[in-house]
Amino acid sequence: MQQANSIFLILLCVHVLVAGFIAASEDALLRLKHGFGNPRSLGTWNASVNASPCRGWEGVKCNGSSVVGLDLGGVDLRGGNISSAIAELTGLKIIKLHSTGLVGPIPPEISGLRALEELDLSNNSLTGPLPQDWANLTSLAILTLTNNNIDGGIPANLSDAPNLKKVRLERNKLSGPISAAIFVHKSLQSLAVEFNNINGSIPAEIGEAVSLRSFYAGSNRLEGSIPDTIGALSRLKHFHVDHNQLSGPLPPSIVNLTASLLTLNVSYNNLTGQIPPALAAKINDTSAFVGNPFLCGFPLAVNCSSPSPASTNKRPPEISPEVPHDTPFPDPKFWNGKKRSSSKTKIIIEAVGSLAAFFIFMILMWIFVFRDRERSRHASVSTAKVQNWFSPDIQDDRRKGRYEVFSEDLQYSYEDLVSNAGFFDTAHVLGKGRFGTVYRSHLPNGSLIAVKVFRYSHAAPSFERDLELLASIKHRNLLTVKGFYVNPVEKAVFYDYIPTGTLYEVLHGRHTALSREDALPSWQTRHIIALGVARAMTYLHRGCGYKILHRDLKSTNVLLEADWNPRVSDHGLAHLASPRPGEVAETPGYTAPEVVKSKKSTEKGDVYSFGVVLLELLTGQEAVSYVEGNAVKLTDWVVKLHVEGRGQEAIEPIVLKTCPLQNIVDKCLNLAVLCVDSNPNHRPTMAEVASVLEDCNYTSPLRSPDVKIENPLLPFRDL
Ligand SMILES: *[C@@H]1O[C@H](CO)[C@@H](O)[C@H](O)[C@H]1NC(C)=O
Ligand SMILES: *[C@@H]1O[C@H](CO)[C@@H](O)[C@H](O)[C@H]1NC(C)=O
Ligand SMILES: *[C@@H]1O[C@H](CO)[C@@H](O)[C@H](O)[C@H]1NC(C)=O
Ligand SMILES: *[C@@H]1O[C@H](CO)[C@@H](O)[C@H](O)[C@H]1NC(C)=O
Ligand SMILES: *[C@@H]1O[C@H](CO)[C@@H](O)[C@H](O)[C@H]1NC(C)=O
Repeated sequence: MQQANSIFLILLCVHVLVAGFIAASEDALLRLKHGFGNPRSLGTWNASVNASPCRGWEGVKCNGSSVVGLDLGGVDLRGGNISSAIAELTGLKIIKLHSTGLVGPIPPEISGLRALEELDLSNNSLTGPLPQDWANLTSLAILTLTNNNIDGGIPANLSDAPNLKKVRLERNKLSGPISAAIFVHKSLQSLAVEFNNINGSIPAEIGEAVSLRSFYAGSNRLEGSIPDTIGALSRLKHFHVDHNQLSGPLPPSIVNLTASLLTLNVSYNNLTGQIPPALAAKINDTSAFVGNPFLCGFPLAVNCSSPSPASTNKRPPEISPEVPHDTPFPDPKFWNGKKRSSSKTKIIIEAVGSLAAFFIFMILMWIFVFRDRERSRHASVSTAKVQNWFSPDIQDDRRKGRYEVFSEDLQYSYEDLVSNAGFFDTAHVLGKGRFGTVYRSHLPNGSLIAVKVFRYSHAAPSFERDLELLASIKHRNLLTVKGFYVNPVEKAVFYDYIPTGTLYEVLHGRHTALSREDALPSWQTRHIIALGVARAMTYLHRGCGYKILHRDLKSTNVLLEADWNPRVSDHGLAHLASPRPGEVAETPGYTAPEVVKSKKSTEKGDVYSFGVVLLELLTGQEAVSYVEGNAVKLTDWVVKLHVEGRGQEAIEPIVLKTCPLQNIVDKCLNLAVLCVDSNPNHRPTMAEVASVLEDCNYTSPLRSPDVKIENPLLPFRDL
C-alpha cells in the first residue's frame, strides 16, 4: 500500500515537473515572440490555438517535453529583437533565426546556453558587439553571423568555446585583429571573416589550428606577411586573403599545402617575390595572384628572371619605363636578401644593376602615385583601395571626355563620381554582363550609385544622344539613367543603386533562405513584379512619347526594390553590348526566333522576351535549363505541355498554393504562351498584356506578404 502510494507520489512529482517545464518554456517563447514584435507572424504560437509549444508551434522542435530547436529562418520578423528570454530555453541545441529581418543586439545571455550546438543569425540587421563570454558554450560547433551589422572586435575568448568548428562572421563591421588564441583551438575547421574592417596581421599561431580547412579573410585591412607556419596546415583546402595590405613574399612552406589546397586567393595585396612553381602547378588561375605589383612568375604574365648579368652578359638589366605592369623585375633572390656564392664583382655588378632598376622603377611608381594624389586631393571619400593600373596616357584620355549628370541629387564633379569613387576596385563589382561591368560607387554624401562601364569602347555613335533621351524617360518601374560619361577609353552610365538584387536571383538563386518553399515569393509578389514589368514595357513602347525598344528584357535585367517593386534596367542599350555596332546580340532563351534570324529588334520581339519572364515567374524555371547536358528552352517545354493540355504541370507548386483560383493561373499561363507564339503577329501588344495582368491579382488570406530578402546573393562557400 505504502509502495503504491510512493509510486503515485513520484508520478505526480514527475507530472508537475514536466508541466512546470512546459509552462516555463511556453512563457519564455511567448516573451520571445513579444520581442520579435510582429503580431502577424507566428500565429501558431498561441496557447489557445495549439495547446503546447511542442505541438504545432511553428519552428519549435522538441525532444519529449524539452524545447531543443528553434528554426524560424525566413519568417517575417522584420524590425523585431531577440529577447533575452531565449536564454531561459536551456535545452536549446539549435537556433536558426537567419533571414528574418531582426534588428538590435545579440543578447549576451545567449552565452549561457550550455546545450547549444548551432547558432545561425545570418542575413539580418543585428548590431552591437558579439557576446563576450564563451566558456559556457561547451557544445557550440557552428556559429553563423554572416551579413549583419555587428561591430566591435572578434573576442579573443571565442576560443573558450571548446568545440567550435565553423565560424562565419563575414560581411559585418568587425574591427580589430584576429586573436592568436582562436587558432590554438584544435577543433576549428573554418573561419570566415571577409568584408569586415579587420586589421593587424595573420597570427603565426594559425599553424596550430591543425583541423583548419578553410580561411576566408578577404577584403579587410590585414597587414604584415603571411606566416610561414601555414605550411603546417595539412588539411587546408581554401585560403583567401585577397584585398588586404599583406606584404612580403609568399612563405616557402606554402608549397606544403599543395596536396590539400583546392583554392587560393592572395590577389590585391602588396606581396613580393616569386610565386613558388610548385604552388603555381596547383593553383594556376591568374586572378588568384593579380594586383600584387611586385609578385612575379607563372601564372602571372610577369617574368621574374630579368636577363641576369651572371648568366648572360654583364649589362645591368634593362627597364622599359612605359608600362609599369610589365617591367622586368630584379632577380627575386636579390629581393629576398639571399647572398649568392659567386665572385664579389659579380655580386656588385648585379647589385648595382638591380638597385638602378629598382630606383628607376620606384621613381616611376612615385610619379604615378603622386599624380593620383594630386588629382584626388579634393575628394572627401576614402580611396584606400582604388587600383589604377592604367598608363598615364589612359588617365589623361579619361579626362578628355564628356561628362553629364541629369539628376539633381547627383551634382558632383567627375572626380568625385568617377576618379575618386573607387569603383575600379573589384570589391565594388556588382555584376558583370555582356555589356561590361557594373560597379557600386560611394558618393561624398555617403549614398551609393551604380555605374555601368561598357566593355566595348567604340559604342554606337549615337550613344550620347540615346542617353540624353533615355535620361528624360522616367517611370516607377524603370531604372532611370542619371548621367553618363564618354571618353576615348570608355563609356559609362550612372543609375540608382538598388541593393536588393534581381528577379533572376530571387527566382533561381540558391539562397539558403529561399530553399524553404514558403520563403519563395508568393503569387501576390510575382503578380506585382509581372504587372510592374508589363507597365514599364508599355510605357517604353507607347507611353513616353517615343517608341523605345528594350531589346534585351530578361530576369537579370529586372531589379527588385525592398517592397518588390520591379525596376527594368538596360532598356535601349542592347546595341551597345555587341562587339560590332548595330548588331543585335542574342540572349539564348529570351530572343524571339524571328529576331535571331533577321538580327532586327522589333516591338513584338520585346513581347516575346516578356513572355519568357512571365513563364519564369509561373514555373520558377530558368529560360534555358540543362538536362543531361542538353539545353532545353523554357518556352519549348511549356508550349509542349500546354498543347497537350498539361500546362498546370509546369506551374511551380508555391504559385498554386498561394493562388488557389485556377482560372487566374490559367489566364496568366495562356497569356505567357501567347506572348511567346512563334508568329509575331499573334502576340499581343504590351498594353494588352498589362491590361490582362491587371485582373490576375489574388491576395492569399493565409499568408502575410513576403519578406524581402536582403542581399540575396551571398557567394556560396565550401565551408
Ligand atoms: C490566440 O488566438 C485566439 C484565437 O485565434 C485569439 O483570439 C487571440 O488573440 C490569440 N492570442 C494571441 C496572444 O495572439
Ligand atoms: C557560466 O557558468 C558559470 C558557472 O556556472 C556562471 O557563473 C556564469 O554566470 C555563466 N555565464 C553565463 C554567461 O551564463
Ligand atoms: C613543410 O614540409 C617540410 C617537409 O615535409 C617540413 O619539414 C616543414 O616543417 C613543413 N613546414 C611547416 C611550416 O610545417
Ligand atoms: C591549370 O590547371 C588545370 C587543372 O589542374 C589544368 O588542366 C590546366 O592545364 C592548367 N593550365 C595551365 C596553363 O597550366
Ligand atoms: C580572387 O579575388 C579577386 C578579387 O576579390 C577576384 O576577382 C578573383 O576572381 C578571385 N580569384 C580566385 C581564383 O578566387
